[in-house]
Amino acid sequence: MADLLLNPITLTFLLVLFISASFTFTTIVLWVVIAYFKSSLRATYFEHRDRTLSRINYTQNEVPVLLGFFHPYCNAGGGGERVLWTAIRDVQRFFPYVVSVIYTGESNTSKEEILAKVKANFDITIDANSVVFVFLQKRYLVEDGRYSRLTLLAQSLGSLFLGYEALEHVVPDVFFDTMGYAFTYPLVYLLTGIKVAAYVHYPTISSDMLNKVKAKTSALREQKVYGKSTIWNMGKLIYYRLFAKIYGYCGNFADIVMVNSTWTKGHIENLWKRDADIVYPPCDTERFSELAIKERERIIVSVAQFRPEKDHMLQLQSFAKLLNDNPAFREEKETKLVLIGSARNEGDEKRIQSLRLAAKELKIEDNVVFEINASFSKLLDWMGRAKVGLHTMWNEHFGIGVVEYMAAGLIPVAHKSGGPLMDIVTEYNNKPTGYLADNVNDFAAHLKTAIELSPGEYNDIAVNARASVCDKFSELVFGDGVLRSLRRCLT
Ligand SMILES: *[C@@H]1O[C@H](CO)[C@@H](O)[C@H](O)[C@H]1NC(C)=O
Ligand SMILES: *[C@@H]1O[C@H](CO)[C@@H](O)[C@H](O)[C@H]1NC(C)=O
Ligand SMILES: *[C@@H]1O[C@H](CO)[C@@H](O)[C@H](O)[C@H]1NC(C)=O
Ligand SMILES: *[C@@H]1O[C@H](CO)[C@@H](O)[C@H](O)[C@H]1NC(C)=O
Repeated sequence: MADLLLNPITLTFLLVLFISASFTFTTIVLWVVIAYFKSSLRATYFEHRDRTLSRINYTQNEVPVLLGFFHPYCNAGGGGERVLWTAIRDVQRFFPYVVSVIYTGESNTSKEEILAKVKANFDITIDANSVVFVFLQKRYLVEDGRYSRLTLLAQSLGSLFLGYEALEHVVPDVFFDTMGYAFTYPLVYLLTGIKVAAYVHYPTISSDMLNKVKAKTSALREQKVYGKSTIWNMGKLIYYRLFAKIYGYCGNFADIVMVNSTWTKGHIENLWKRDADIVYPPCDTERFSELAIKERERIIVSVAQFRPEKDHMLQLQSFAKLLNDNPAFREEKETKLVLIGSARNEGDEKRIQSLRLAAKELKIEDNVVFEINASFSKLLDWMGRAKVGLHTMWNEHFGIGVVEYMAAGLIPVAHKSGGPLMDIVTEYNNKPTGYLADNVNDFAAHLKTAIELSPGEYNDIAVNARASVCDKFSELVFGDGVLRSLRRCLT
């Protein structure tokens, strides 16, 4: 008998039996759980829908379509919220039968307050008659800083509860996630079968994060350090890989995927293994594009916070090379570099101090102006006088500052990487819109070319650059992109 049991064939058989039994068991349990929640949502479907619609004056003849915007931080007033409200306004304009349901965690405020703030912050007018707010109580589950360990996973699991709370209030016809909670897509799909749309600003996990841990692990291995930190890093790597797999799996439950830039598109397509459409968010370039494109002064501006990654040192070095190679630029043809930025904390102050020192050492301090904490009108003043806008950050994901230069009629000289390379300083109407560089020599050379452009040449590039950004990153083009994507599931 014992012989029979220990027989490898019998053992394998038992093992396979055990695995398939537990697999079947898990499947059945999952199935039962899903069926339970599904039927519980179905039981209240019409009641909750009617109750939601009763909170507004829906006056169209057609059957309303409920478009649910999942945006727990809708009152934050940042770039993501500009995207949200612009999208809602455009949907209201073009689809009068669509009622926007906004799932938000701002449980303390009222609809009127939120809409007033949207008007004040973004100058966007929302028709109160076709929006309904659903106030969620469980937003604390996705709060930053709530979890000290396994933050990604914990927040993602938290979003499942938040997503279910949203569906409990009302099941929309289309679920539109505008904050990147990808874990909610399979939940929504499995429980309701409705269409899921996503606008992704930023991947929850990026290959940059993975690569960082990977590099650290292999460095430790090379040094033959096999202590706690190596094990910790290897564990982290496995965790990230696993998370990326699940994240990719979740992403596949979305029917429509929009991303905000080429950088995000690359990451999302890689992780989710599917296509995503770029819909650039609208940039507020209006105030800058009112500045006249006329004869400008020999001024190079740099608008950037004094953060290390902005690489102001590269700006000073390039400018020093420009002045040293062209001594006339110091006095007769005096050329200035104006560094505009805010000092928000002690770190910034220190960096500014060391930049001032560096300017002295490079002997360019007479031609460099530090404009710290400038007001917006002061900024506009510089942008209206200067001829060139300088940007030196490596691999910036987008680079709104460069867009603003171009809108303001400046010739951009930007870092040849990231957003400036892929999205912004690209040819428009087959004509250049500025210059790209990635080292001191190239930066200095391009600065010289840009500063010395004749009025006619300057005008050509500046006009083209302005047209390019005002077209590509306008609200109109954004609205077009969003509506084109959503139309597939709204009609
Ligand atoms: C709906 O319309 C009525 C009458 O026009 C008005 O009194 C009421 O305030 C409106 N309700 C909403 C939610 O706008
Ligand atoms: C809600 O409002 C109260 C009083 O107005 C305030 O003290 C509290 O901080 C608010 N809570 C949140 C989460 O904003
Ligand atoms: C996309 O979103 C990310 C995260 O909010 C932001 O850093 C980036 O600048 C955005 N891209 C564009 C084109 O606005
Ligand atoms: C800039 O503003 C910050 C606070 O907003 C302040 O602490 C700092 O002293 C200011 N710096 C200058 C140079 O005005």
